[in-house]
Amino acid sequence: MQKTIIVANWKMNPQTLEEAKDLFDFAEKEAQKNKDFEIIVCPPFPYISALKSSDAKMGAQDVFYEEKGAYTGEVSISMLRDVNCRYVIVGHSERRKHFGEIDETINRKIKVVIGAGLKTILCIGETQTERGENKINEVLKKQLENDLKDISDNSELIIAYEPIWAIGTGVACSIPEAKEAYLFIRTMIKSAPILYGGSVNSKNAAGYAKESGFQGLLLGGASLDKKELLNIIENIKQ
Ligand code: PGA
Repeated sequence: MQKTIIVANWKMNPQTLEEAKDLFDFAEKEAQKNKDFEIIVCPPFPYISALKSSDAKMGAQDVFYEEKGAYTGEVSISMLRDVNCRYVIVGHSERRKHFGEIDETINRKIKVVIGAGLKTILCIGETQTERGENKINEVLKKQLENDLKDISDNSELIIAYEPIWAIGTGVACSIPEAKEAYLFIRTMIKSAPILYGGSVNSKNAAGYAKESGFQGLLLGGASLDKKELLNIIENIKQ
């Protein structure tokens, strides 16, 4: 049976290693207790090798597409694999917006992740303006086509549908709207799990995970709050 996937994207949080350890231990315990869930924690790079993952899986928030060399500030896929990362988020809208990430670089990154035998969590989603102009499917189609260009093997792929206007805003996408996007993505991506992300909390989580058809959730803010994380898992289980 397909496990419900929960990705905890910590972004640039928490501020100390001690807090990171505490939060990670909590995720580990939840993963141990809930074998029907695949819990993937994506901490900032400096914490990754200090956190011991067994039941919860380790993920990175980004990777560079070159293997080594003069690329100040970057991290390669073999470095991530060496510290037991099994998943990599690629194309998060915050990277697209603040760091000039474009479909072409995203495509190169996905290829190195696949080449190294790790799993990609590819984030796609439309802006508020694009939604207003009824361009949701057009945008999702273009992102999927460009980001996955020349990639035929989707077996190690997870897609996260994240409407950009819903990320970190507290304005979540309605369940029927999310379902529409899910069904559209499913016409293009036949078998990979599709997650929902964007202002998920313990009140709306079960709606996305059960009613909209998604195979799991990508959590930002809620993943830093132990009580919310616990309640999200409990509410999906019910
Ligand atoms: P959020 O972030 O849950 O805080 O809205 C989601 C995300 O990182 O995509």
